[in-house]
Amino acid sequence: MRVALGSDHGGFRLKEKIKEFLAEKGIEHKDFGTFGLEAVDYPDYARAVAEAVARGDFDRGILCCGTGIGVCIAANKVPGIRAALCHDTFSARASREHNDANILTLGERVIGPGLALDIVEIWLRAEFLGGRHARRLDKIKALEFFYYKGQHWNWGEGS
Ligand code: RB5
Repeated sequence: MRVALGSDHGGFRLKEKIKEFLAEKGIEHKDFGTFGLEAVDYPDYARAVAEAVARGDFDRGILCCGTGIGVCIAANKVPGIRAALCHDTFSARASREHNDANILTLGERVIGPGLALDIVEIWLRAEFLGGRHARRLDKIKALEFFYYKGQHWNWGEGS
């Protein structure tokens, strides 16, 4: 599994902890920044990670900001992305099993690193259950198609 990681300054410390965790577990990952505590704009990092996941360069993405809300809103604007803000393990598992979430978002100012890493571990392990949930995801895809005016997104090179 390949994981794309990103944060703004508000989620930088948590993103670094998650990076260490992925390295310890031998999970392939790439850090899309930010790389320090200087104030930056979270949509820039959410976009980079979301596009990398939507293109299929990475299987999953994890985004952190102060609350986890800003990066979640921004990532969900990218077609093909199902970003879920999860601050408990039940939601983390359900976001995979029911919603096939391909990006997890977390708020560094909301939960501690111990719980955050438990959430990450459960979220990475859990699988989509399909069945009735797949029909619902098809309806989400239909919404995306409608609101993006039927454009077909080309995530190939140069797009
Ligand atoms: C940055 O101060 C903060 O607004 C950001 O990290 C995030 O919480 C936004 O949703």
